[in-house]
Amino acid sequence: MFGETAELGEVLLTEDEIQSKIREMAKRITEDYRERSLVLVGVLKGAFIMMSDLAREIDLPLEFDFMAVSSYGSATRTSGVVRILKDLDFEISGRHVLLVEDIIDSGLTLKYLLKYLSTRKPASLEVCALLRKTGIQKVPLDVRYEGFEIPPVFVVGYGLDFLQRYRNLPYVAVLRDGVQP
Ligand code: IMP
Ligand code: MG
Repeated sequence: MFGETAELGEVLLTEDEIQSKIREMAKRITEDYRERSLVLVGVLKGAFIMMSDLAREIDLPLEFDFMAVSSYGSATRTSGVVRILKDLDFEISGRHVLLVEDIIDSGLTLKYLLKYLSTRKPASLEVCALLRKTGIQKVPLDVRYEGFEIPPVFVVGYGLDFLQRYRNLPYVAVLRDGVQP
């Protein structure tokens, strides 16, 4: 199923654990933004699976937009220099914006995106991230909705890829020892 291979190691988060966390975050978001409408901005490609599950659990008027970024550096190490491959389609000035990210590793991508989006003058700007690797953020980050803290290992599934594969796994797994990202 799901294109699993021998490269995959231990399952870190099961489908049930992820789905109940998504529902919990969506409930908080629904309460926090009561009486308001919200723009979800997903960071492609990793956040698309999470965003689709999250959005369907949020009971608010919602709009969607996406950004695509690539960071210079190797496949797995962010340099902090981010290139915008796809910008927002819509103006966000005066809007309540929630940035949806799959994972925070060094935090440099998120830091760049927050700075960039804040120049567009949204009414508010918060972050919802499914995963945060502990102890390695190079910059202080204010993440309002955080799903799980995980150890600083390379993970795949639920949107996250290794060489573009495994995004469709409904769970999050580590790569097997010896499989180097
Ligand atoms: P940061 O700028 O170092 O926080 O990097 C964040 C981006 O790197 C994420 O949006 C992912 O695309 C990618 N990334 C970081 N860690 C992992 C991982 O463990 N698996 C898959 N992608 C990752
Ligand atoms: Mg990403």
